[in-house]
Amino acid sequence: MEVVLVDQSHVRRSLPRPAIRWVPMILPVLLAILLVSFSGSYTHAEITGSAHDFSSSGWTAGEICIPCHTPHGADSTVVTAPLWNHEPSTATYTPYTSDTLDETAGDPGPISKLCLSCHDGTIALDSFGGKTGANVIGGPALLGTDLTDDHPIGIRWNHQAIAPGFCANCHLPGGPTGKVEFYGAPGDMRIECASCHDVHNGRSLPNLLRTTTAGSELCFVCHNDKI
Ligand code: HEC
Ligand code: HEC
Ligand code: HEC
Ligand code: HEC
Ligand code: HEC
Repeated sequence: MEVVLVDQSHVRRSLPRPAIRWVPMILPVLLAILLVSFSGSYTHAEITGSAHDFSSSGWTAGEICIPCHTPHGADSTVVTAPLWNHEPSTATYTPYTSDTLDETAGDPGPISKLCLSCHDGTIALDSFGGKTGANVIGGPALLGTDLTDDHPIGIRWNHQAIAPGFCANCHLPGGPTGKVEFYGAPGDMRIECASCHDVHNGRSLPNLLRTTTAGSELCFVCHNDKI
């Protein structure tokens, strides 16, 4: 989580004299309380009420995490997400293709396959924890197994479209910026569903996105030669 450091110098100046002595003692305590209360509710508060909150669906017994994670009896073959609970899809996918691609969109990577275990429509939403469910995804959230009409995934990030001056979109002295994510092994990092989306709604943006589409900012993070 991000912690905003408070510059205490101006606080001191603006307080009446007798309070000054207490500030150094009280401030760390207040910050500590703030920190604890935030970290305690972090994941819960974000996913609650989002498109991935199925607690009122009738098939989760009012729980939020259970279609995707379980404390016991998890699928230990899944390593891209912890304690995975949803039945995996065994579908074969048709990847995006075009004459102008530099790299090739291959099979969806392991993390995308977790998304597709619901979003390809071959496995029911309520097929988790060893049960076979009956509620299948529908509407615009159903992508199917034909991914030729979707932004390429399982495709290598090779700095395809980066103009000099936009490197800080992803590279900062402290590490990645979190505007997008990449998945795979060093030297072979790829775009996956979760490159653009945050499954837990961490940014509280429409469509569970990691970066806003206002002014097409999300696209320009990676395609800034088009600016
Ligand atoms: C719709 C499926 C889904 C739901 C619901 C869900 N998760 Fe996740 N979770 C994932 C996926 C997929 C990943 C891997 C994400 C990634 O690496 O970007 C993940 C990763 C995690 C991680 C490890 C990485 C991190 O972000 O810290 C934790 C911890 C976690 N989930 C906890 C929870 C909890 C607690 C809940 C319920 C409040 C929950 N998740 C609900 C799909 C889900
Ligand atoms: C347990 C099944 C399940 C898994 C796993 C899952 N989703 Fe979903 N997701 C859904 C359903 C169902 C909806 C549609 C909800 C609705 O229609 O309101 C949805 C909606 C969405 C939406 C649309 C959000 C919106 O605000 O309309 C996005 C984006 C999305 N999912 C991305 C992902 C990504 C990315 C992953 C993997 C990291 C993932 N999902 C994993 C079931 C799942
Ligand atoms: C959209 C995000 C993004 C932007 C923008 C970006 N990079 Fe990267 N960069 C990455 C990722 C992800 C890796 C790790 C690639 C891997 O290991 O496969 C990386 C790796 C590198 C490396 C290590 C060598 C390599 O290729 O693996 C260098 C050097 C580098 N970037 C330079 C730059 C420069 C210079 C710019 C600006 C012109 C830039 N990057 C812009 C995401 C980005
Ligand atoms: C390059 C970024 C990017 C990637 C990769 C990506 N998406 Fe999206 N997705 C978006 C954007 C942006 C939207 C917002 C709606 C739009 O512009 O069509 C969206 C919308 C959605 C929606 C909502 C559809 C609707 O009309 O309600 C779902 C569901 C979804 N994405 C799932 C996925 C899944 C599953 C994957 C991987 C197979 C994926 N996305 C890969 C950027 C991406
Ligand atoms: C995380 C980085 C990333 C983000 C964000 C992203 N893209 Fe891409 N996009 C790529 C990569 C990598 C390719 C494959 C380029 C190649 O190999 O030629 C690609 C391919 C494409 C292509 C197909 C190019 C072709 O030659 O067929 C289009 C069009 C495109 N992106 C549009 C978008 C749009 C629109 C958005 C915003 C909604 C977006 N992208 C967001 C990384 C990204």
